[in-house]
Amino acid sequence: MNNTFDPMWAALQPIGRDRHSGGYRRYAWTGEDATLREWFAGECRLRGLELVEDRIGNQWAWWGDPDTQPGIVTGSHLDSVPDGGAYDGPLGVISALAAIDQLRTAGFEPARPIGVVNLVDEEGARFGVACAGSRVITGAMTADRALALTDNDGISMAEALRSAGRTPGDVGRDDETLRRVAGFVELHVEQGRGLIDLDSSVAVGTDIWPHGRWRLDLPGEANHAGTTRLDDRHDAMLALATAVQSARQVAERHGCVSTVGKVDVEPNGVNAIPSRVTAWLDARGPVEADVRAAIADLTGTVEDLGGTVGEESWTATTVFDEPLAQRLRTTLGEQTPMLGTGAGHDAGILSTAGIPAAMLFVRNPTGISHSPAEFAELDDCHAGVAALTTVLRELVG
Ligand code: GLV
Ligand code: MN
Ligand code: MN
Ligand code: MN
Repeated sequence: MNNTFDPMWAALQPIGRDRHSGGYRRYAWTGEDATLREWFAGECRLRGLELVEDRIGNQWAWWGDPDTQPGIVTGSHLDSVPDGGAYDGPLGVISALAAIDQLRTAGFEPARPIGVVNLVDEEGARFGVACAGSRVITGAMTADRALALTDNDGISMAEALRSAGRTPGDVGRDDETLRRVAGFVELHVEQGRGLIDLDSSVAVGTDIWPHGRWRLDLPGEANHAGTTRLDDRHDAMLALATAVQSARQVAERHGCVSTVGKVDVEPNGVNAIPSRVTAWLDARGPVEADVRAAIADLTGTVEDLGGTVGEESWTATTVFDEPLAQRLRTTLGEQTPMLGTGAGHDAGILSTAGIPAAMLFVRNPTGISHSPAEFAELDDCHAGVAALTTVLRELVG
């Protein structure tokens, strides 16, 4: 095979990597993101693909004219979570470009356009809402809401867009972009242990668990760490400890998973009793009503502590297009495993907006993801490219 995957993979490794942890910090509309976007544009230029940026900044590169006939799009995202792995996102973008190379080397002429996309701000690591790029163009998140989101430094998405040379006023639901997309296939590293024992490099995605993010605000009173008697304290950190325990208990009670992975403490001094803690909860599970019940129970506990729980985002159960998923499986062979996932993806948002969407998962030998330890064997990555090539050939042939 004409291996164009490996050099692209190598080219991305240094961008946004922390030299101590080896993890990535590639947040939307930062310098790292700009470098990644330029890299993507350069790869598209090299291949003579027509690059179109939509108004929020998703990059769509076309082989063929999607205004003549809507095309089949593949791709993923290049941003990361804080200290993320190398695979979540980039694997799908690089595999998409490599699959195009495979088709071209084989002399294949697509009967309908093929698109490769880099969707912006998938992880929501900077502004808090995941899949911001796909949510905005589909109208799942309004432009007003998106532009008002702020990062840890109080910079709004509108300001970040402006600093990146974009026009926030243009942002919004984008039917012109969506009309060009007849179907979407996102290749992604598997983020659990679903493929380890199945003797297959690749699986077809079936569904995404319902999931959401909530903000917990816990009040306290600042005071001296040495002179304030224990009985006189109103310690927001103690309230957080109770809330985190409760988040775990309600998840166990209702068959879900929950995570408090981000906190903000005021005044954040070693010798001052915390006056306020804000924490962000991520909760997911196979059944929507169970996730809702867990949040309701947790909310009771937090309110008893004098705090509040506010919903920041909610994504209902997503079942990928069944005929498309079945077609992928038939194309790849009936032995191909079908897997659901607890991870969110742009493919889910596009699917909810009525675009037939499906996913291919590439085996992850440890199941670890959202960590510098995230990994996939190179042979499995190559098998992913081969599977995506086969699937594209089938869908656009
Ligand atoms: C995004 O990757 C998520 O599932 O949190
Ligand atoms: Mn992710
Ligand atoms: Mn991802
Ligand atoms: Mn994701």
